[in-house]
Amino acid sequence: MRTTSRARLLAIAVAPVFAVGVAGGVQATTEPDTGGAGTGTCIPEGGIEAKDSYLIGMSQANKGEPWRQAMNDQIEAAAAAHPELEVVFADAAQDNAQQVADVENFLAQGIDLLIISPNEAAPLTDVVAEACSQGVPVIVLDRKVEGDQFTMWIGADNVQIGEQAGAYAAQYCTDEGHDPCAVIEIRGLEGSTPAQERGDGFREGLAANETAEIIASQNADWLREKAIPVSQAMFQANPDVHVVYTHNDPMTEAAIISAESAGLDLDAILFIGIDALPTPDGGIQSVIDGRIDATYVYPTGGFEAIDYAVQILEEGAVPPDEVILETQEVTADNAQAIMDSFTGGAATEGTTAGTEADAPATTG
Ligand code: FRU
Repeated sequence: MRTTSRARLLAIAVAPVFAVGVAGGVQATTEPDTGGAGTGTCIPEGGIEAKDSYLIGMSQANKGEPWRQAMNDQIEAAAAAHPELEVVFADAAQDNAQQVADVENFLAQGIDLLIISPNEAAPLTDVVAEACSQGVPVIVLDRKVEGDQFTMWIGADNVQIGEQAGAYAAQYCTDEGHDPCAVIEIRGLEGSTPAQERGDGFREGLAANETAEIIASQNADWLREKAIPVSQAMFQANPDVHVVYTHNDPMTEAAIISAESAGLDLDAILFIGIDALPTPDGGIQSVIDGRIDATYVYPTGGFEAIDYAVQILEEGAVPPDEVILETQEVTADNAQAIMDSFTGGAATEGTTAGTEADAPATTG
């Protein structure tokens, strides 16, 4: 894909705005380039040297989680349309030191661009800055690092997602007449930015109902297997719970299993998750099947990352500091329609198909 006409560049730049019409509600909006902190960071003066092929390192926090596998699959699928790009993947298996080593290894290999979805913010900040100081552009996906020593960040607004989830819970408490309304929260890995943001946003949204109270909050590190014992203990201590808010769908599924085995009435509890992968074992299907009550589409940004990589490496573009991906609330009322919008009405088998829904945002 070496036809780097200006028209093509513009088409890529504006394409995300139209995504909602063709991609089932996933819309990317780019913030204007304000020239603020981070703009153009890591792009060497004089631009990037033109080459026949480019090596991209993709540092993944933990491939063991379905949503992260979907991100990698998206990146691979998007890069396949660009024969001049080679993407090498590393899986840190939720280990910060491993992820630092992965990035250092990429730098030693001479990557032209780094894509990273950091496990936790603080421990990965320095190595990202190191890449930047070596003139390697860095695209940070989903979870953030600290400071501004990277080229751009792509992800959804986790405070907003948390707020919507909180408002949904608050309304449920009102509708059900629970006074007080008992809420428990199962959080993601504490040093990862979405956990903090989803927790903070939720509290803001929940405040719409003064009787709603978070009676217990525990960490299960984003992991379904950790959320089983955590939720078991929480239900044992708090059997009279009305709302269970978990920071991702795998932990919601774990909570549902624990609630069931604790003999609680699942119909009397509101279960809220986040991710809404459109796969057979993902959150949207869970809503269709009546297990999870509400979840939020959390796009991976994999397609966008490759499109911006092409713009940076091949077209001399200085990208915006941030690209905010749009989310969507999924409930029983719209789950099937959202699933159809991702899959075109056909059942999905793999982990990637549905999350390709935002592909048109970047392949324009
Ligand atoms: C996967 C995951 C997703 C979640 C995201 C937040 O590691 O836990 O389920 O939405 O990370 O960074």
